[in-house]
Amino acid sequence: MKILSLMGSPRINGNTDILLNYILKGAKSKGATVKNIKLITLKYKGCIECGECEKNGICSLKDDFSPLYNEILSSDAIIIASPIFFYNISSLTQMAVERGQALWVAKYRLNKNITDKSKIGIFVAIGATRGQRLFDGVNLVIRYFFDAIGVKQVSSFLVKGIEKKGEVLQHKNLLDDAIEYGREIVEFKIKDRLFIV
Ligand SMILES: Cc1cc2nc3c(=O)[nH]c(=O)nc-3n(C[C@H](O)[C@H](O)[C@H](O)COP(=O)(O)O)c2cc1C
Repeated sequence: MKILSLMGSPRINGNTDILLNYILKGAKSKGATVKNIKLITLKYKGCIECGECEKNGICSLKDDFSPLYNEILSSDAIIIASPIFFYNISSLTQMAVERGQALWVAKYRLNKNITDKSKIGIFVAIGATRGQRLFDGVNLVIRYFFDAIGVKQVSSFLVKGIEKKGEVLQHKNLLDDAIEYGREIVEFKIKDRLFIV
């Protein structure tokens, strides 16, 4: 299995980064090849509404995000991982989501066959508070994003109650389960996770 993950926290070695790495560790232990992109290291923009993709389904922006279209189309699993910022995904993640517009155009306007039914999407998110509706907004955004890019979202790994940089390392049970979750991805037997720390 080829996995592409987009790590959307600006904090390298922060909670999202660490949690995602444990998930990827589990997936690699089952033979997956992984391309993990830390979005903060890229220079890219969100959609600028130039309308060029309406012609051919190809984004006109040429930047560090451009090569990721091929990665998205050629991967078997795509993981989006983001911290919760103001009940939302981070702006780095949102810019990546907006770049999915070219694929939405390809799929829905130009009727290009970009959907691969065997391809799976996974959402990982981590927030500091424990509000009941913490993930309501982001779940909707990510479900719509995966649909737009022709991927079936199969699962999410959501964590509430973790704030300080690296704090997730204090929760061994969570990290052990993240490794197990990574294994489940490769075995296509994934169960959703919701941790309230
Ligand atoms: C700008 C900003 C906005 C935040 N907004 C929320 C929020 O609305 N709800 C929440 O539960 N946590 C919020 N947090 C806390 C982060 O989600 C939390 O610290 C998380 O563990 C950060 O993950 P990271 O280390 O991967 O960046 C916010 C943090 C920042 C910096």
